[in-house]
Amino acid sequence: NTISDQDVEEMFELARAVALEAGQVIRENFYKDKVVDTKMSAADLVTETDQAIEKMVHTKILAKFPDHKFIGEESTHETHKHELTDDPTWIIDPIDGTTNFVNHIPEVCFSLGIMVNKQTVIGIVYAPIKEELYTAKLGQGSYLNGEKLQASKIKELKQAVILFEGGASRDEQILQDKLKNVHSLFTNARGVRSYGSGALSICNVAAGRGQAFFEYGLHIWDFTAGNLIASEAGAVVTDPSGAELNPLRRRVLVGCSAEVAQSLSKVLTHLDMGWD
Ligand code: IPD
Ligand code: CA
Ligand code: CA
Ligand code: CA
Repeated sequence: NTISDQDVEEMFELARAVALEAGQVIRENFYKDKVVDTKMSAADLVTETDQAIEKMVHTKILAKFPDHKFIGEESTHETHKHELTDDPTWIIDPIDGTTNFVNHIPEVCFSLGIMVNKQTVIGIVYAPIKEELYTAKLGQGSYLNGEKLQASKIKELKQAVILFEGGASRDEQILQDKLKNVHSLFTNARGVRSYGSGALSICNVAAGRGQAFFEYGLHIWDFTAGNLIASEAGAVVTDPSGAELNPLRRRVLVGCSAEVAQSLSKVLTHLDMGWD
């Protein structure tokens, strides 16, 4: 698939517009009582607002780009793996941080990444309660509310603040390995933070608010947009092992510098979380 600069601009315009609309829906519902459902575990929530936003966005994308593919968290069934093709594919998480959303914690966002030939060309993350709009186009830098982003220049893990997420799995072996990693963070890094939104954590690294993020067990819709925003801000995005990221492999490491990424990779236990 070849796409022109003009195509990118057209997709970006729609992406930005739907992100702002999704944000408006999140804002309107933020303090309301919610109808909450659980999915895989009691730690895995979905609300009517997640579903309504995903439907709204999907409809608008199809109306303008009927041939484009769509991967959305709430229309993906646990038993069906989705396939990622070379076609232009809109990858969305209607609300990242649903547990925060249910608990009135402002760390929530809408996340939208567009891949063409399996490469991310556009990333938009909008956190409507904090009024933060992160945008990126491949090769053109990334921005927070229009201001250009630059990740931290720190190289030493011992000077780094590491953002991590525990994820929704409650499998005992997985939890044991994740605990080892938490121990390792406290041993090797300066500080540890966990905000409850993978997408916003990656954007925080892009914005110089901490030096690295990693998670085992998240999905393609959690990191596709954020990863472009981070790499366009000078951060390094890899598989936690240091290998090239596979967007379907459910794990990611984002370091502000190659040095921090490598040092962090070395001190982590690498969990195999299966595939999307
Ligand atoms: C979750 C959040 C959380 C991360 C989970 C994700 P959701 O997304 O990003 O921080 O630990 O792995 O599933 O369910 O709120 O969209
Ligand atoms: Ca979810
Ligand atoms: Ca998510
Ligand atoms: Ca979600």
